[in-house]
Amino acid sequence: MAGTSEKTINVNVKVWRQKNKNEKGGFETHDMKGVSVDMSFLEMFDVLNERLINEGKDPVAFDHDCREGICGMCSMYINGRPHGPKQGVTTCQLHMRSFKDGDTIVVEPWRSAAFPVIKDLAVDRSAFDRVIAAGGFVSVNTGNAKDANNILIPKDDADEAFNAAACIGCGACVAACKNGSAMLFVSAKVSQLALLPQGKVEAQQRVLDMVHHMDMEGFGNCTNTGACEAECPKEISLENIARMNREFLFANANEKK
Ligand code: SF4
Ligand code: FES
Repeated sequence: MAGTSEKTINVNVKVWRQKNKNEKGGFETHDMKGVSVDMSFLEMFDVLNERLINEGKDPVAFDHDCREGICGMCSMYINGRPHGPKQGVTTCQLHMRSFKDGDTIVVEPWRSAAFPVIKDLAVDRSAFDRVIAAGGFVSVNTGNAKDANNILIPKDDADEAFNAAACIGCGACVAACKNGSAMLFVSAKVSQLALLPQGKVEAQQRVLDMVHHMDMEGFGNCTNTGACEAECPKEISLENIARMNREFLFANANEKK
């Protein structure tokens, strides 16, 4: 539009390239000139990939889907932090205005034994799917949709279940944890069901199965560093881990009776 000038910056993008999980990877640096500060971080990658394709080169593989903070696909470290420098946002919600002219931006895939690299920035997070398949569901017959006031649920429980259900399964908690622990993710999935009457029916078996499967997938132990909560884009609370531990101890004791 006449009379307006879009603010742009020049940045160097140092991005991890790796053909597959068996090959050794390394960084590749690209200078990105005239990047609009209103661009999202992933749009900046789209521009880079168009350029690479036009030059006959292999574009950078990265996961994305919704681009609005819902699907949890856009998983990457940006300057050493899962989902980048801003608190409570996913990579797709990050904008180039969060960076300064002349910045070098280092972008890497999740570094965790349970999330092997597929290619470049894309990692295999199917371990999360298998933990969910082990018990993260309600299978009791709940019948037709009930009248809203038929089953009374305390407001605090409903709020806590809703907050836990905000987890998008992105894996940032695992990536942020020095032990590669998945406790924040699994505890959110256990809590969102255990707090509600429909989920309580299978709560004991669910927590045993999900924790057992989490261990089988090779996730590490929780040592309460809190890095997961600090880097979670949905700000899932550590209280969920305490709740899952209580649920697990109770279920374990009952199983041994
Ligand atoms: S707990 Fe947070 S960081 Fe972990 S998977 Fe869920 S949304 Fe992502
Ligand atoms: S692309 Fe869906 S959360 Fe980022």
